[in-house]
Amino acid sequence: MSIKIAVAGKGGTGKTTICSLIVRILIEQKNKTVLALDADPNSNLNELLGVKINGTIGQLVEEFKKNGGIISSGLFKDQIVQMDIHKIITEGKGFDLLVMGRGEGPGCYCAANNLFKKYIDLLQENYSYVVMDNEAGMEHLSRKTTNSVDYLLIITDPTPRGIMSAYRIKQLVEDLNIKTKKSYLIINRLENKLTKKYIMELTNNKSLGNLDQEINSIDKRLIESINNYNLTLAGVVNNDETLLHLELNGNNIFNLDDKAVSLNQVKIILKRLNLI
Ligand SMILES: Nc1ncnc2c1ncn2[C@@H]1O[C@H](COP(=O)(O)OP(=O)(O)O)[C@@H](O)[C@H]1O
Ligand SMILES: [Mg+2]
Repeated sequence: MSIKIAVAGKGGTGKTTICSLIVRILIEQKNKTVLALDADPNSNLNELLGVKINGTIGQLVEEFKKNGGIISSGLFKDQIVQMDIHKIITEGKGFDLLVMGRGEGPGCYCAANNLFKKYIDLLQENYSYVVMDNEAGMEHLSRKTTNSVDYLLIITDPTPRGIMSAYRIKQLVEDLNIKTKKSYLIINRLENKLTKKYIMELTNNKSLGNLDQEINSIDKRLIESINNYNLTLAGVVNNDETLLHLELNGNNIFNLDDKAVSLNQVKIILKRLNLI
């Protein structure tokens, strides 16, 4: 059984960045395998992971439909689909990457799609962890690309409006009947650290352990929003300039310094959630 972690949030909040940090941290776990699943049609997780992609599931489905699923070699459709998927899996150092690409919208439940979905689901079970980078609309999740999610991590900017968007995404996931075991909020790009006092308020009813390291000053309205929407904060990630430099220099997440604040904060979050 794999542990499936889906990262969601509105555009630009840092989903892809946090996904790549999670992948980097998880692959450092001994004897664990990681599948990164890029489910954002505007896929760019591969860039942060420092690998080139060989194709997307969207392209495979299109080709499959164009050929009418007719196969010359006498192989069964199922075998072709499995082989095709394996062809487009990118092998990175310690992880594999599968890119969904563009789909035909939430309404498409055609046979080809279903066949691919079946094998993507089966494939996921081969890994210890699946880390899924989603788009804001959760299209792939809504099309049940993946059956269920163990951890839904909703990324938000540090604003009350951002928290409201995060809440809407949580609602959307519930409305779509996506089975989610646990869902958490992560505040990203925080300028200052949270104050201990506020953290104490935040964790009043939620025992996520010690949030000491994230501390200094935060707008009180932020805390109120989180509480009003009954969201559970898994932790915060500060605005980390080293991430910006990484991007400007065309480097990937594996070039990030071990001491980078964001990397260590994501590590703390994963520990707090017992994921590592
Ligand atoms: N904690 C952070 N500190 C500094 N920059 C960040 C941080 N998180 C994300 N960014 C930057 O914000 C931009 C958007 O991030 P990205 O991960 O692409 O968002 P999304 O995938 O949600 O659209 C990128 O330029 C990224 O480098
Ligand atoms: Mg992204």
